[in-house]
Amino acid sequence: MRTVHVNLGDRSYDIHIGHDLPVGASLAGEEGLRALVVSDGNVGPLHGERCETLLQAQGLTTSRLDVPAGEASKDMAFMQRIYDAALEAGLDRLSVIVALGGGMVGDLAGFAAATFLRGVRLIQVPTTLLSMVDSSVGGKTAVNLPQGKNLVGAFYQPVEVAADLATLSTLPEREYVSGLAEVVKYGVIWDAELFRRMEESVDGLLSRDATVLEDVVARCCEIKAEVVAMDEREAGVRAVLNYGHTLGHALEKELAYSGCLHGEAVSVGMVYAGELSVKEKGFPEDERDRVAGLLKRLGLPVGVRDLGTTPAWEKLRGAMAADKKTRGRIPRFVLAERLGSVAFGCAVDDDLLKEAFAVIGAGAS
Ligand code: GLY
Repeated sequence: MRTVHVNLGDRSYDIHIGHDLPVGASLAGEEGLRALVVSDGNVGPLHGERCETLLQAQGLTTSRLDVPAGEASKDMAFMQRIYDAALEAGLDRLSVIVALGGGMVGDLAGFAAATFLRGVRLIQVPTTLLSMVDSSVGGKTAVNLPQGKNLVGAFYQPVEVAADLATLSTLPEREYVSGLAEVVKYGVIWDAELFRRMEESVDGLLSRDATVLEDVVARCCEIKAEVVAMDEREAGVRAVLNYGHTLGHALEKELAYSGCLHGEAVSVGMVYAGELSVKEKGFPEDERDRVAGLLKRLGLPVGVRDLGTTPAWEKLRGAMAADKKTRGRIPRFVLAERLGSVAFGCAVDDDLLKEAFAVIGAGAS
């Protein structure tokens, strides 16, 4: 097992990464605690009982609510369902809400924990690669409104994260590979050595090798912990975590109907950011090619056409301008200077944005 500490003063916590981990170890010794496990219709039946047993082993009384799997559950109606379940289970201010699942469950249960009784403790038990390396760490929680994604939320740190790699064995292949895009991202933005290790471990990554996974997931969590400790509320450097996400979010929005996954959109977005980076920041062309090469070897899309459909540039440009992270409708990009080092908050000339899109529009080469 590896442990990564997130250093946030009195809101610090540990992330445990490994196989067959305990859950609720950070609460051991406290008497009479209650826990509500929130999961979804896919993960709950697979891992819910074990999670409750592990919590009971730490002396907690548990109950569980599974919401339907899928982003549609991340809304205020299901938030009310969680509040109902929390009241029915008799949760008090010392109780804990446990988010067992991927990013949707983490966001939904996290916001419930941030708000129920003005805040109860939160434990994140991520079961997807994406949520292990990204959404379960750092305290972002949110629900969607009919008007848009993640429009209501809170920064609310968990007291513990237990990333049990054993749960990845039940993750569908496409979802697992999609999570690898975020892993590649950490190499590009922060750690050229991690990137190199990934290039050498493609087979181990694809076969979900336990040692390779523990190494890369722990390193990604270390990087995220470091970034979040520097800038918890995204006033500055935390934005580097959005490498590839400016176009990625726009693609997700425009291609929602075709079921494009987050990591797939981010993969194409990173190839796009690589093109912009060569022009704007002198990102070496061979490093740009290494990033696209690694993504491709991992089975990720590297061009818009690989996503199965080609949205019009004007639509994507409009979606990028409407992103909630823009200022004055000018999209901001994270751009690479070299592997392991990026600049954030970069505005890019419109002609160049379109030119780079034409390059990646073609799809895999
Ligand atoms: N997913 C980006 C962040 O947590 O800031």
